[in-house]
Amino acid sequence: EVCVPSVEQVRRSGENENRTQRLDCKQIKALRFLSPETLQEVSARLRKDLLRGLGKHSHHKAPVKMLPTFVRATPDGTEKGDFLALDLGGTNFRVLHVRVEEEAQKVQICAIPQEMMLGTGEQLFDHIATCLGDFLESHNLKGQTLPLGFTFSFPCEQLEIDKSILIRWTKGFNCSGVEGKDVVQLLKEAIHRRGDYHIGSVAMVNDTVGTMMSCGYKDQSCEIGMIIGTGTNACYMEEIKNVKRIEGKDGRMCINTEWGGFGDDGCLDDILTEFDVEVDKTSINPGVHIFEKMISGMYLGEIVRLVLVKMTKDKLLFKGQISEALGTPGRFETKFISEIEDGLENAKKILTELGLDWDLVDASVVRLVCDTISSRSAYLCAAALATLVNRIRNNRKLGHLKTTVGVDGTVYRKHPTFSSKLQKAVRLLAPQCDITFLVSEDGSGTGAAMVTAVAQRLAHQSRLLEESDGEDNEEEEEEEEEGQ
Ligand code: GLC
Repeated sequence: EVCVPSVEQVRRSGENENRTQRLDCKQIKALRFLSPETLQEVSARLRKDLLRGLGKHSHHKAPVKMLPTFVRATPDGTEKGDFLALDLGGTNFRVLHVRVEEEAQKVQICAIPQEMMLGTGEQLFDHIATCLGDFLESHNLKGQTLPLGFTFSFPCEQLEIDKSILIRWTKGFNCSGVEGKDVVQLLKEAIHRRGDYHIGSVAMVNDTVGTMMSCGYKDQSCEIGMIIGTGTNACYMEEIKNVKRIEGKDGRMCINTEWGGFGDDGCLDDILTEFDVEVDKTSINPGVHIFEKMISGMYLGEIVRLVLVKMTKDKLLFKGQISEALGTPGRFETKFISEIEDGLENAKKILTELGLDWDLVDASVVRLVCDTISSRSAYLCAAALATLVNRIRNNRKLGHLKTTVGVDGTVYRKHPTFSSKLQKAVRLLAPQCDITFLVSEDGSGTGAAMVTAVAQRLAHQSRLLEESDGEDNEEEEEEEEEGQ
């Protein structure tokens, strides 16, 4: 039930005799076959892939990379401090100054021109260092040496919290000379080249981790971070003993799943449509991040456009006439999907702006296509999220799990029904889990600062423990007093 968008609505709205033919056409059908059983199957395949990614010998070849993040604890709400944060890889590049306990922050958005996203790494990091420099200048922070949280939303092999090797670019980025390099080092070198300001210790985080950490400050049962925006991905707290390439048996570590890469070995080929294949083929990174390309904001608009073009060629829409705009890759923006689904009037306006000669049935069918593509995205995400919550529940041998998922991303936030569809489907696929969804208020920026703050709190606690070890009680009391 949950997987079938309401055709009835559309049927009722059209007064055209060939409407049944239009609505039942095979393009729409092909996209609407994600039954609960199919979603369970997708979830089961991902479950296997999580294990491959965690395995000592299998992780090299695993499509779902399961990257250790060196984040071992979520916030306990007592974190404090002043931090800088950079956030690269979402809709905007942002520089922030965050004061954790006050939730105060200053933010500056800096554009990254398209050419720079495809230029050299040195240009990109020089630009980042310039934006940070301007920010420090305009907020009178240049004399200080603040710790910096760097949200870098791409797959990285993290060696330490401040050493992180870019595995590959995803989404619209493809700068030369960065893959295989330590991104923190590249940032430091760029700042050094300028030489007019200093930064303190750096903590590198993925945006999923930032989102989990910033939501975790408010709700301490938040142990999953999920992004459905330009790209899609999630992280969660895994038992260290299951992360075979990490030393140690006790405690947990946050794992950045990079679930966008699910399907890169062909395991989702049976559910890909001709439109997915085309979107992948014409992307700047063919063959990688197949799951992401079915789900995230960077691609949804283009999938819809391809469906509409095909239907028009088959004379099912717009009297068979493709306008120049509809024929141009990238012209159908993902935000149109949200707007069109929000109301028929919006649909009419957008179709007119795209230069299309539409009638009422056309407008309704376009809404159905948008609904179909966005629902498919929500259900696939639900299947993936269900895999994670079920895994956490099994890890802890719980009959019932109550947990919180921190979420961010334009698709989740802006689409009128995406979040409710996703939530409903997760409940169906993970019936023994009770999940609270918390939309992060500026997750990735604050969260990066939070990672540094948690690390500082843990270091402080372990220092106190070490210092108290072997000392007599009197000194211990003194210490405590000093600390107060
Ligand atoms: C892409 C990136 C991933 C990021 C996600 C959401 O999938 O590879 O690191 O978390 O986009 O921004």
